[in-house]
Amino acid sequence: MSSPSRTTLHEWQAVADHARATGRLTLRELFAAEPIRAERFSFEACGLFVDHSKQRLTEGTLPLLIRLAEACGLRERIEAMFTGERINTTEGRAVLHVALRAPRGETILVDGKDVVPEVHEVLDRMAAFCRRVRSGDWLGHTGKPIRNVVNIGIGGSDLGPVMAFTALRHYADRALTFRFVSNVDGTDFAEATRDLDPAETLFIVSSKTFTTQETLANAHTARAWLLTSLCDEAAVAKHFVAVSTNAVEVAAFGIDTATMFGFWDWVGGRYSMDSAIGLSTMLAIGPEEFHELLAGFHAMDEHFRAAPFEANLPALQGLITVWNATFLGAATIAVLPYDQYLARFPAYLQQLTMESNGKRVTLSGRVIDDYQTCPVFWGEPGTNGQHSFYQLIHQGTQLIPCDFIGFIESLNPLGQHHDLLMANCFAQAEALAFGKTAAEVRADGVPEELVPHKTFPGNRPSTMILARRLTPRLLGSLIALYEHAVFTAGVIWDINPFDQWGVELGKVLAKRIVPELESAEDPKLGHHDHSTAMLIRRYREARSG
Ligand code: F6P
Repeated sequence: MSSPSRTTLHEWQAVADHARATGRLTLRELFAAEPIRAERFSFEACGLFVDHSKQRLTEGTLPLLIRLAEACGLRERIEAMFTGERINTTEGRAVLHVALRAPRGETILVDGKDVVPEVHEVLDRMAAFCRRVRSGDWLGHTGKPIRNVVNIGIGGSDLGPVMAFTALRHYADRALTFRFVSNVDGTDFAEATRDLDPAETLFIVSSKTFTTQETLANAHTARAWLLTSLCDEAAVAKHFVAVSTNAVEVAAFGIDTATMFGFWDWVGGRYSMDSAIGLSTMLAIGPEEFHELLAGFHAMDEHFRAAPFEANLPALQGLITVWNATFLGAATIAVLPYDQYLARFPAYLQQLTMESNGKRVTLSGRVIDDYQTCPVFWGEPGTNGQHSFYQLIHQGTQLIPCDFIGFIESLNPLGQHHDLLMANCFAQAEALAFGKTAAEVRADGVPEELVPHKTFPGNRPSTMILARRLTPRLLGSLIALYEHAVFTAGVIWDINPFDQWGVELGKVLAKRIVPELESAEDPKLGHHDHSTAMLIRRYREARSG
């Protein structure tokens, strides 16, 4: 029996009524009405200062959203997650990425078994391996030390490692070269390896399931690439390690399970960058800094679990996402880091947010037809985006709330650069919120026919996330902020953020099409729709012709 829609809760209706009643208030009016607004709506924890004052919130909005969260059982759901309940009900699994960063000595039980010692056992093995590689003690098959590390994985087994490597490059061992191969497009592998010496290259095959088509194709290609040069099967043991939950498939691929780093079915792919999937991150920054990253995650975990919702960064962020997407009708949210090191952060967040909450069925199986769930997340670093898509955010017809992320100190202080960067960051949020009225434009002496074009409507909401410095610890807290915000929003929308059935159909159909592309015969009549059959035929004919 499916449970009633969230819309039947009177707390939901109260938020909906409030949105209707306050929807016409502008940020100009809200700021004018309350001079200390920035203080009321600013929050701080784990090194992150978060200013929500430029969101379209009145004094009454957050209390109503918090009441909704309570009515939806957010507090109980948080406890259920942290105590290892199988809250990923459609896969029958616990959801315990928080255990990946639990300090040694803490206890987290799954089916009566404490999982924290196993987590640290793997972390210790990873650290020992990373020390050997980083010190030059781990030798390749020909006796040369490893100089290049290539992570092969896709989705959560790629986006987290790439994002973390890019974000923490400042802390990385520059003597090692890191590459990431994800796409089954051969170009990805070819370009990643074209200038590498196989004798100095280590492949990390990262796959939770070790059955992912793209990753296995790339791993087989990597193996052939290595053996073409080193001409000895025994070389595989020195140049391949695996990160997976599936020891059987790892062994079947030919990687010694002694050089496999494991994790567990209670870690979702998009929540796995701090598990052994972070091996490339640890190789880059070293075990000590990796533990700092984990400490940052853990600090935010504790904050999320303990802080009252009124001051709880992830809970508030998740609730404001719901407010914008479901009650104010925003179909997308832009994530705009003003830090080049966070260039891949929006891409990482796309999987985290949209693979988690991009769903239209409730936990009890009801199709949601009475409210919108997850918006599209996207973005690019500032200031680059300003010269590309910000036009639409400022003057387009859609409401696009923005998350700005900036730092007080640059990791590469160069003249005036950082002040220019942050001046732009603050200016964009100000311009979006307050715009420029037609009267102000006219006062600048703009000819009347250009006034509408040069007017900025403003009232475009944003959140500013500010921190002192991008460190491994800070990055951990920032990611955990978003992880738990995603969970919060999922609870309000009554969906399971931890499965991903929506990726399956395309995989099945692709498997069916592969032999058809390679066969000499036309696909069987009725096997595909007219369009797909035509495309397959055209591809085959052009290839063979
Ligand atoms: O296809 C989606 C997905 O299952 C993601 O959820 C996951 O992160 C990715 O594929 C890679 O999966 P694996 O780590 O098992 O190769």
